[in-house]
Amino acid sequence: MRTAVFLAAAMALAMPAMAQEAPPEGKSLFLTKTCVACHGKDGSKAILGYPNLAGLDKTYLLTQMKDIASGARTSGKDERGYPRTQGMKDIMHLVTEAEMTTIADWLSKLPPAPLKPGTDDAARLEAGAKLYDKTNCKTCHGPQGTKPLPTYSLIAGQKKAYLAQQMVEIRDGVRANGRVKAMVPNVKNLTDDDIGLLADFLSSVQVKK
Ligand code: HEC
Ligand code: HEC
Repeated sequence: MRTAVFLAAAMALAMPAMAQEAPPEGKSLFLTKTCVACHGKDGSKAILGYPNLAGLDKTYLLTQMKDIASGARTSGKDERGYPRTQGMKDIMHLVTEAEMTTIADWLSKLPPAPLKPGTDDAARLEAGAKLYDKTNCKTCHGPQGTKPLPTYSLIAGQKKAYLAQQMVEIRDGVRANGRVKAMVPNVKNLTDDDIGLLADFLSSVQVKK
């Protein structure tokens, strides 16, 4: 009798846990394979100047994971003297290609990270928007960076520091993986100040998903 009561109580305690839905597999992998440490909760709270990943294109996400893992995509150095891509490269042996696909699929369906505009200075934002049109960024990334060609990166609403760093490093040939060379003519005549304007502007554009 006592055992029966005990069991019933134990069952009652266990029930809510059992009734809770297991997180999607992509999310579990994102947590257990350490991605969350750098890219933040649900790929929306990345640390330092690291990129948010929520809502990016699935194929783009997968390609970049593979290129960072293989070393095809590299970056400038951090304050310790290592490429910023190094920490991620060092953990990519933890994921198989199938797991990368599962993570990419999950991330691509999430709503984009909340906006953190680089500035609220209206004159700067307008100048950035003008420069974006003038340098024909929309051919590949869509109006205001919101509607990229299929399998291209979504740049609207990304973090300012990350956007600026990537534009500089694409311009200077530091990041040269995949089809990124196609963009060099559009950025090669831009100064770091021009790039700052573009990054301020793009980081202020809300993407609806
Ligand atoms: C130690 C930190 C760290 C960890 C852990 C890490 N990343 Fe990254 N990741 C980065 C950094 C830094 C970049 C950007 C590199 C640069 O600045 O060029 C990046 C870039 C990316 C990109 C490309 C984003 C874009 O817009 O081009 C994807 C996709 C990505 N990471 C996915 C993952 C996944 C999935 C995991 C877990 C399997 C992971 N990362 C683990 C630091 C990390
Ligand atoms: C001819 C096509 C093309 C044009 C025009 C172009 N880009 Fe790109 N852009 C790319 C490609 C390709 C990549 C790398 C991603 C990939 O391989 O899919 C990229 C990457 C980027 C990234 C890094 C995204 C990330 O998540 O890491 C930023 C930021 C960016 N472009 C901004 C711009 C801006 C601003 C302009 C205008 C000055 C511009 N691009 C013009 C093709 C283009």
